Amino acid sequence: MIESSERLKRFSTYAFAEVDKAKEAAAQKGFRIIDFGVGDPTDPLYEGAIKGLQQGAEKHARSGYPSYIGMKEFRTAASEWLERRFQVSVDPETQITATAGAKEAIFHFPFAFINPGDAVLMPSIGYPPYKAGTVFAGGIPVYYDLREENNFLPDVHEIEQLLEANKNIQLMWINSPHNPTTVVAKKKLFEELIELAQKHNVIMASDEAYTEMYLHEKPHSLLEFSDDWSNLVIFHSLSKRSNATGLRIGFAAGGADIIRHYRTLRTQIDSGVANAIQEAAIAAWKDEQHVESMRQMYNKRRDVMTAALKAAGMKYWAEAAFYLWVKVGDSMGFAKKLLQLDAKNKVGINVTPGKMLALTDTAYADAYARFALVPSLDDTKQAAELIREHFS
Ligand SMILES: Cc1ncc(COP(=O)(O)O)c(C=O)c1O
Repeated sequence: MIESSERLKRFSTYAFAEVDKAKEAAAQKGFRIIDFGVGDPTDPLYEGAIKGLQQGAEKHARSGYPSYIGMKEFRTAASEWLERRFQVSVDPETQITATAGAKEAIFHFPFAFINPGDAVLMPSIGYPPYKAGTVFAGGIPVYYDLREENNFLPDVHEIEQLLEANKNIQLMWINSPHNPTTVVAKKKLFEELIELAQKHNVIMASDEAYTEMYLHEKPHSLLEFSDDWSNLVIFHSLSKRSNATGLRIGFAAGGADIIRHYRTLRTQIDSGVANAIQEAAIAAWKDEQHVESMRQMYNKRRDVMTAALKAAGMKYWAEAAFYLWVKVGDSMGFAKKLLQLDAKNKVGINVTPGKMLALTDTAYADAYARFALVPSLDDTKQAAELIREHFS
């Protein structure tokens, strides 16, 4: 029998297995499931990106291996977008590098900066690669809590205490808008965290995958809040902005030394992002209209579902990203019940229990569930109606 590595063994799929079993049971009984589970857009890729991809395939038919850091045109298009969107001036030559989406970029980042025994600070509830990348790099995850009492935002005092108590922390992750709680960090929080990171000589890494999914107020980028980027890095992706999860493209940008080391690491990992995909991305970064349409569409779905949650008396967070974070009590029980909610017409709803989104033993996460607003408006209306009917 072949055994996996000890590090891999740490990534149990237990919580997922429990939900998968409940899903299977519903499917066996013939339930149609309206799926708010995974945050993967079901709408098509931005059409300008499709054209870019097609033309890019021809243009690069003989280009060979792509550049490790991304074509100059790609880095320039991404930098120009950062300038328009956040008024920050990133040098395409030294301060940005292409990535195959944010997931692998986030996972691999610690490999460039973490030595065995170093610690990485991350949210107790959040995106799994912060933890997986740390562990596989030989680092130790240290968690800061995201609690309802603090509107699920990082508590600066707690972070300060953790930095004081764990001198081996070399890297700190922040994610705004936050998956799954939807909350958005404001200027003051960014400024306070940057100050702490500078004081403790820690790299501050900001996962900004959802900055384009907002209702009214535009979320900020970490790079807006300091002229000194020597310990700052941001991660962006077209996955959600342009319905481009299938393309696998994004970038990391920040201090030149950080990017230099990260580029060196990346030459060991892969051979760059396909040129045709970079061409698609260039087209996408240049267009904002499709992004505005995407926002309007999610906002409609959000309105439909939050009206039902309100009628059902459930507390929820719906600040940004395309999620709803809903207080449901026992989230595993709630998720199982939803899967067979309408027994008469055999319609169920799939959501993600909070337990599955906790990176550590965060028991209080069990009280919440995440809805990803990816089903069509019609399906969202049907699901909302069912929730209204069964919980009001
Ligand atoms: C918080 C967060 N960051 C990053 C990503 C990565 O997205 P991608 O790898 O598709 O760019 C996701 C995807 O769901 C996410 O939820």
